[in-house]
Amino acid sequence: MKLAHVNAMSVGIFSWAALEPSEGRFEFGWLDRTFDLVQKNEAYIVLATPSGSKPAWLSNKYPEACRVLKDGRREPHGFRHNHCYSSPVFREKVAIINQKLAERYGKHPALLLWHISNEYSGECQCGLCRAAFHGWLETRYGSIGALNQAWWTAFWGHNFSEFRQVELHDWSISAAAIDYKRFVTAQTVDFLRHEIAAVRRHSTDVPVTTNLMGMFPGLDYAKLVRELDVVSWDSYPAWKNDADDWKVASDVSMIHDLNRSFKRKPFLLMESAPGTQQWHAVPKLKRPGVQKLEALQAVAHGSDSVQYFQWRKGRGGCEKFHGAVVDHVGHEHTRVFRDIAEIGRTLEKLAPVLGTSVEPEVALIFDWENMWGIEQLSGFNNQAKHYDATCRAHYRELWKRGIAADVIESIADFSHYRLIIAPMLYMLRPGVAERLTEFVKRGGTLVATYVTGVVNETDLCFTGGMPGPLRPLFGIWVEDIDGLYAGETVTVLPTSDSPLGLKGSYSAREFCSIVHAEGATVLANYGSDFHAGNPALTRHQYGSGSAYFVASRNDDRFLSDFQGGLATELGLRRAFPGELPEGVTAQARTDGSREFLFLLNATQKPQRLSAESGFRAKNLLDSTVVGSELELEPYGVLVLERGA
Ligand code: GLA
Repeated sequence: MKLAHVNAMSVGIFSWAALEPSEGRFEFGWLDRTFDLVQKNEAYIVLATPSGSKPAWLSNKYPEACRVLKDGRREPHGFRHNHCYSSPVFREKVAIINQKLAERYGKHPALLLWHISNEYSGECQCGLCRAAFHGWLETRYGSIGALNQAWWTAFWGHNFSEFRQVELHDWSISAAAIDYKRFVTAQTVDFLRHEIAAVRRHSTDVPVTTNLMGMFPGLDYAKLVRELDVVSWDSYPAWKNDADDWKVASDVSMIHDLNRSFKRKPFLLMESAPGTQQWHAVPKLKRPGVQKLEALQAVAHGSDSVQYFQWRKGRGGCEKFHGAVVDHVGHEHTRVFRDIAEIGRTLEKLAPVLGTSVEPEVALIFDWENMWGIEQLSGFNNQAKHYDATCRAHYRELWKRGIAADVIESIADFSHYRLIIAPMLYMLRPGVAERLTEFVKRGGTLVATYVTGVVNETDLCFTGGMPGPLRPLFGIWVEDIDGLYAGETVTVLPTSDSPLGLKGSYSAREFCSIVHAEGATVLANYGSDFHAGNPALTRHQYGSGSAYFVASRNDDRFLSDFQGGLATELGLRRAFPGELPEGVTAQARTDGSREFLFLLNATQKPQRLSAESGFRAKNLLDSTVVGSELELEPYGVLVLERGA
């Protein structure tokens, strides 16, 4: 581990069967030795609570700890991440083992962080979970009449007279499906709190985290993270070793930003693959440079750690071919080990970056409840909803230009930003329309798209036309949205004064809104089909700010020209004072006086960059001073310190 320059170990994630081999019989000797050895070597431990995997004795004696599946069967013992969140006996057993761990190791000098469980996910349909859902509904709605109204149950005669009549999976009531997902999050959060409370009985000052999985649709992470001291996540990008690798880099950057934005604080990269992931369809080996690019990319976006799954390949089990720092061969003379050791040495040089922040002027809204609303949406274009891909496409236009962004939920604080991009904000949660309106009124710029302002939080359509309560803000009325078949397009033509530098003819696909300007300025019109002449892009001055409405899903060139034009018009801060070639990004962290500039080349080609004249910075990786002409190796990274 010293050779690999590794100084922290995540331990115990699935170790319940080793810690408590039979009910009430505990064996901590192996973990004591691990703690002591790690401490002696001046390293640290991230200690997991072991609920991610139940011991066989527990499932056998207390089958109610196992989940009930959608078909009503109780799941047999096996796999992982599959316990019932309601089961009192499971909660009791978890509390016991968590308390024992906290009591024994809570004050150990090697303990750095609590890692609560592992990758929480899933749901259970047992009687207790059902009753918990009904109780949750009753608390939320107060009366069954209010639920019937909010869910529009009279359609198809689905009116309920009691909460307990509600099924868990009646997707014909879209609001019920969305509420069920909210409940699953609430239930998971409740379980997480239960785990944390048990740890906190004996360990009050060691921070807690749990490892998240990017844009995992099953849980509203924006709610889950409120229970945590530190946000952490597991990142497994599928590098393709082709010309599109920079898009992979941009996509993963967006998730790093999401994790940083949850608390507007540094986060931790809890897991990444040393080498390959055996579960990818084609477990590609990382090309030279990619491992380091991936690691430093996390740091560039605000991670204060680079951690790996796994230290050493096991000989058996389903992950024996998952990348590891130490291969089955058993020595350090492998390309993966050399990569990890080099990253370790590099991180030691980056100590000044630790704890520094990223301060974006731009936020992109990615909202779980909105995602669930769009999942349930039946209308407009059911074949091509692509909410998350649409968010990624908008994000990419910032990444390409080295413009930092937070990725926030729709109910987050907007006061830090000058520009908010809100793709496909189908569902307006309570207060969001008012706060977006206020944001623009005070001088902010807002970008929204097709499929915006359609429903409220229980999926009831706004009356009075789309985009609902945002109609005055955008100065438009969206009469309808046309769905386009795959391959079908409509042209988009900017008005003759080339607003924002838009030029030529663009092409719309999949969604074309029919927009009536009601005070907004039309910046582009459709040029074909019966849409010809209708507005395709509008801007509305509102108070001291502007609200843009992009009425159709357009080609990449449109998005690039539009967001590029907007960035120039607003003078948005760019991390690098110069042009960035395709596939290269720049990201910066700052401690208020010094700035740490990361230049990342996510392409297979070497790249040259020219900064404005007079540019000087210290290369943190080799302590040289660099000027305005810079070179990046294929998949290469530079970390520069400015303003020292
Ligand atoms: C997840 C889990 C790990 C391991 C890795 C494999 O992130 O937390 O236990 O299974 O995936 O990539």
